[in-house]
Amino acid sequence: MSVKRLFAFKGTLSNATIQHRLKYIVAAALAALIFYLAALNRQWAHLDGVFRFETSHHPSPPATPNNHTIHRLAQDAQIHFKQLLGKRATTLEQAASRYRERRGRHPPPGFETWFAAAQQSDAVVVEDFFDRIYHDIHPFWAIEPARLRRMIKDEQHYIRVRDGKAWFVSDHLELRQPWVQRWTELVQEMMPHLPDLDMILNVMDETRVLVPWEEMNEYVAKEQRQRHIFHPSDAIAEYTKYQDEPTDHDEPAIKVKWIGGEEHQYWDHYRVTCPPETPGRNVSSLEKLGRPPIYPTQPMPFTRNGFIQNFTASSNPCLQPHLRGMHGTFIESVSMSTTHSLFPIFGGCKLPGNNEILIPAGMILDSYDLFSGGDSHGGDWSTKKDSLVWRGVASGGRHKEDNWWGFQRLRFIQMMNGTTVSLLEAGGDAAPSFVLPELEEYQAEAQKNGSLGEWVSSFSDAAFVAFECFPRQEDGHCSYLDPYMELRDSIHMKDQYDYKFLPDIDGNSYSGRFRAFMRSTSLVLKSTIYAEWHDDRLIPWVHFVPFDNTFIDIYAILEYYLNGHDDEAYRIAEEGREWSEKVMRREDMKLYVWRLLLEYARVMDPSRDRLAFVNDLRD
Ligand SMILES: *[C@@H]1O[C@H](CO)[C@@H](O)[C@H](O)[C@H]1NC(C)=O
Ligand SMILES: *[C@@H]1O[C@H](CO)[C@@H](O)[C@H](O)[C@H]1NC(C)=O
Ligand SMILES: *[C@@H]1O[C@H](CO)[C@@H](O)[C@H](O)[C@H]1NC(C)=O
Ligand SMILES: *[C@@H]1O[C@H](CO)[C@@H](O)[C@H](O)[C@H]1NC(C)=O
Ligand SMILES: *[C@@H]1O[C@H](CO)[C@@H](O)[C@H](O)[C@H]1NC(C)=O
Repeated sequence: MSVKRLFAFKGTLSNATIQHRLKYIVAAALAALIFYLAALNRQWAHLDGVFRFETSHHPSPPATPNNHTIHRLAQDAQIHFKQLLGKRATTLEQAASRYRERRGRHPPPGFETWFAAAQQSDAVVVEDFFDRIYHDIHPFWAIEPARLRRMIKDEQHYIRVRDGKAWFVSDHLELRQPWVQRWTELVQEMMPHLPDLDMILNVMDETRVLVPWEEMNEYVAKEQRQRHIFHPSDAIAEYTKYQDEPTDHDEPAIKVKWIGGEEHQYWDHYRVTCPPETPGRNVSSLEKLGRPPIYPTQPMPFTRNGFIQNFTASSNPCLQPHLRGMHGTFIESVSMSTTHSLFPIFGGCKLPGNNEILIPAGMILDSYDLFSGGDSHGGDWSTKKDSLVWRGVASGGRHKEDNWWGFQRLRFIQMMNGTTVSLLEAGGDAAPSFVLPELEEYQAEAQKNGSLGEWVSSFSDAAFVAFECFPRQEDGHCSYLDPYMELRDSIHMKDQYDYKFLPDIDGNSYSGRFRAFMRSTSLVLKSTIYAEWHDDRLIPWVHFVPFDNTFIDIYAILEYYLNGHDDEAYRIAEEGREWSEKVMRREDMKLYVWRLLLEYARVMDPSRDRLAFVNDLRD
């Protein structure tokens, strides 16, 4: 039945004939759709160089099926991503009902306005994208609101919201870091839709709160027991206003005890957040770093044939005690000020074991050219160099003469230096920061015949623009690094986009350039131990390529994409760019924080057990 024939006769048909024809058209259309979907599915399932960014394509004869682990991880990730997309809510009723289903509570008052704003800015609302909010807020349900309010009463740096207006309060003018301004501006954009609240900010670089696992477990269990969906007639819609005038019955503030000063052994404080059965829990900070560092002897539980399968788990230090000797955060952080008691404080990033309430990092709210490349997002994939570029400072903590080889950025620079790799292959002591991969899965072809260094030189351009050694030395020199590496000129972000591969590695904490990288037309490779607001909306192997925090898999990953799988690299680069422009826009950060603040205001409210949005349940 050709489409032409179906539409060939017009005008003089009886109603019955029209109905008959219509049935035919519908049936034919359905069949075509099913056929098309099946074809599409086959295509997506194989990624055989044919993908949706190409308008015309010639189906190639089925070659040997690609059975590489990287390929299969990407296939599985695509399926997972499509399942997530299928959960998108497009009406208020859907959004509210998915909320109840996933959270076990009614949405907070103000949900309706929030959803309208989300629709207006064409945001993709998938309930799962907001999981982080609930992970962060839940423990506070275990503490009485009055007590929570006493905890923040005497704090010094906060954003205050009263009567639909927001402003920043601080008694230290010099502490007004630029990102505090960015956060305040973001909250101001939500006015007048937020209830009264005080939002304590972490104005330091480092992450702060580390509640022991056992205690956190109790909080979370208590929250779960309280969850329920009550009858709509019991709901109240108005948050309680704050009483700022002091009265005679005021209870004193509850002070948080901060641990810090000269101490920098963050690992010993961190590990109390690890579940007892994890390998990180019972091991203390290293007294002496291995040179080279001590790598794990077993493949990690979150890998499949060596490659990262569960990116969330791969950022979890509790599962990887070797990271206490391979990440600056644990070797020696720049500063430390931490507490082991739960305390509501907002911050731009955190380790998986930290209990801060996450908001988008100030740096990514900034349009600052250094971190964004301005308006340029790079040219077409085909015009890019088949190579990797990295420029940055040797941050990550205080590296010194007797520990620098444990720091992640220094390790990365050494591993991406072909000369260094060649010297290591020849058996010298040129590379104290790493070892060559021993497992078969990680060995590039070039390594097998001793030409890994040569191969690395052929595609890698990675160097520091500043050493930041401790203590600081004259003229940018660093006596203990000088024999191993040299400074290079910086490369503007927009020129970095001329390279296909953009690796991203933690500095003192999260990396400020990730969002800009994601929005570029290049491929982002990412390793991190830090959590950020957007983690639930980006899918590894679909939107970026994850790699291990030891970097042991990096050669194998690069070899895979450089040798014959350029189309797969291109696909991830493009999908990452497209998707980040849909779900990582400034509007999306605003919507995330807006929703978070509704939850925060509710959990801090004396009437929190009845505060609810239920209009969708009334007739
Ligand atoms: C693909 O590889 C996996 C594991 O590496 C193996 O179990 C499977 O049989 C392979 N499949 C094919 C079709 O070769
Ligand atoms: C850590 O120590 C505790 C108490 O001493 C013990 O119960 C637990 O099994 C240990 N965990 C590991 C992973 O060794
Ligand atoms: C990935 O790891 C996280 C954290 O360890 C865990 O909660 C989650 O269930 C894992 N996801 C999958 C799909 O196994
Ligand atoms: C080593 O292997 C690489 C990659 O397969 C190849 O290009 C190179 O010619 C080989 N070198 C030697 C010395 O065999
Ligand atoms: C690469 O390694 C060599 C040998 O260790 C060193 O001399 C050189 O400065 C390094 N290059 C960079 C960019 O760090």
